[in-house]
Amino acid sequence: MKIGFFDSGIGGLSVMNEAIRQLSGNEFLFFADKKNVPYGTKTKDEVINFSIEAVSFLIDLGAKAVVVACNTATSAAIVELRAKFSVPIIGMEPAVKRAVSLKDGKKTLVIATPITIAGQKLHELLVRTNASEVADLLALPRLVEFAESYEFESRRVREYLKSELAKFDLSEYGSLVLGCTHFNYFKDTLREILAPQTKILDGIDGTIKRLKSESGAVSLADKSSKVEYFYSKQKVNQRKELDRLAMYLKRLDVMREIE
Ligand code: DGL
Repeated sequence: MKIGFFDSGIGGLSVMNEAIRQLSGNEFLFFADKKNVPYGTKTKDEVINFSIEAVSFLIDLGAKAVVVACNTATSAAIVELRAKFSVPIIGMEPAVKRAVSLKDGKKTLVIATPITIAGQKLHELLVRTNASEVADLLALPRLVEFAESYEFESRRVREYLKSELAKFDLSEYGSLVLGCTHFNYFKDTLREILAPQTKILDGIDGTIKRLKSESGAVSLADKSSKVEYFYSKQKVNQRKELDRLAMYLKRLDVMREIE
């Protein structure tokens, strides 16, 4: 089965990487909207338009299911996408439910882009999971820029994260919910700053579970997976760019082990 993945940039690789692992033998199309990244600081209407363009491109290429591997696009556009297209459209949901199920008596900090933090979708999720009283929210838009320029371990990244997280008493938090797929690249630095008891939760497994149940995709382990990359409709085939994508994937393999 051809499965499309879409993000504003390279954050969505974190979701596709895991999907390839669990659904090997399928065909994967990855659309990074490099022309319009970042989404998190744009208007909702702009993100809706970018998302419709991207998803219709993936469906034209034969995608039978599309994963919106971007919390921001999910927050702004999932309703419009589902109304417009007939293939299953699977979005990202911050792992607030899992954070609540830890029942650790501690608070949860949700980090995401400004659109996601201000969006109705996250606020409805907090109400639905009875997390409104125990969750704090923080927008970290600069992490998206850092990730796009492959800047992960610099002093600037550390200082930005340290100063933003210093607004909270970190000893009070049992979990940190990554509400943006770009943030998966920073698990090591986040781990250094957070209190040891704070678990880092991403929404990747939940999304892949939904992808499997809604699309019926199964692993065909005897076949190899095929992956094609597009930067805003432009097929990526230069060696230099493919090598750069491989560097991102390598980093994600390391970050995957950090909780
Ligand atoms: N990767 C995105 C997310 O999950 C969006 C980042 C951005 O473009 O601002 O929210």
